[in-house]
Amino acid sequence: KTEILRINSSNFSESISKAAEILKNRGTVAFPTETVYGLGANALDSVSVRKIFSAKGRPPDNPLIVHIASKEQAIDISEDIPDNAFLLMDAFWPGPLTLILKRKNFVPDVTTGGLNTVAIRMPDNETAIELIKKAGVPIAAPSANISGKPSPTTAEHVISDLYGKIDAIVDNGAVDIGVESTVVDMTSDKPLLLRPGGIGIEDLKEYIPDIEIGYNSENLIDKKVKSPGMKYIHYSPSSKVVLVEGFYRVSEKINQVISDYHKNDLNVGLLVTNETGNQITDKNINIFLLGNRDNIKKVANNLFKGLRTLDDMNLDVIIVDGSIKHEGIGSAVINRLQKAANEIIVLEEGEYIET
Ligand code: TXA
Ligand code: MG
Repeated sequence: KTEILRINSSNFSESISKAAEILKNRGTVAFPTETVYGLGANALDSVSVRKIFSAKGRPPDNPLIVHIASKEQAIDISEDIPDNAFLLMDAFWPGPLTLILKRKNFVPDVTTGGLNTVAIRMPDNETAIELIKKAGVPIAAPSANISGKPSPTTAEHVISDLYGKIDAIVDNGAVDIGVESTVVDMTSDKPLLLRPGGIGIEDLKEYIPDIEIGYNSENLIDKKVKSPGMKYIHYSPSSKVVLVEGFYRVSEKINQVISDYHKNDLNVGLLVTNETGNQITDKNINIFLLGNRDNIKKVANNLFKGLRTLDDMNLDVIIVDGSIKHEGIGSAVINRLQKAANEIIVLEEGEYIET
């Protein structure tokens, strides 16, 4: 009962019209954006938006991003837009930047998770823009995955998570970027970066030099094992993803972690950059190669596909290579890996690891 609308060279506007009709009739439609696939519904209609939450199994207090096709649409649904928000809109829209603004009262509570702010972005994707235009309303769309799973970068990922639970999927191939948008709260005293994403903080700083970082660190500290060196690595059944962060002798460390898990007869998979992959000594191991470390866009684009691929193999543990610079889209990659990890091993520069 989920209609798949596969776009080809001759059916674009027909497919978009069908999808827009479904949205107008209070239905849910998954569609590509430049970042990841989103699961859309009329943002101004609570009946429609509730269907998104139930399909995804999303906690009701987690607000949605409202997708718009013009700046006017953003102005329509928000209030007291500060000057620097307009600055960012002009610089980065359409594109992977979500701005948190004060909402107008008619934006339903379900959409904003009861907050008096609303998250807004203009996607840089023709399919998404045409769909929003034809639907004639702003479209609320979280990533089109089951809550807690990696975001979908292809229609196949959406099918595997949500087939039968939503009304339609517009399939227009793989996305360009592969990690979600950067989220910036424009309602606090100083603009606050809530989620690193497709737009790097360095690029934002050119417009907002005093932007503050409002994500992570604290909630990650519990996961961090301060590089245990030769210390035994404890296996716990909930420990599924082990992230090894740093640059100095990261492959050596990963080889050591692999052998520790193998001693305990556990099935291990690897999500690694090509450079690290080349240094893995155990040849009988499931490896997903993310691409070259220096080609960070490629790594970002492969990230969720890699997590899904290894996840489907029912492995006991997935070891992830965190030898990625915390800059540009690399900050988003590291952030998603830290979130996925049950355990994080941080290698200090110059640390000696016995092998
Ligand atoms: O690239 C993206 O942003 C994708 C595509 C589909 O546009 N969407 C996406 O949506 O990643 P979602 O729901 O998976 O993530 C939205 C994030 C969540 O972390 C949510 O808590 C935050 O934005 N958010 C939404 N509204 C907010 C608000 N009013 N205040 C603070 N955070 C908000
Ligand atoms: Mg999401």
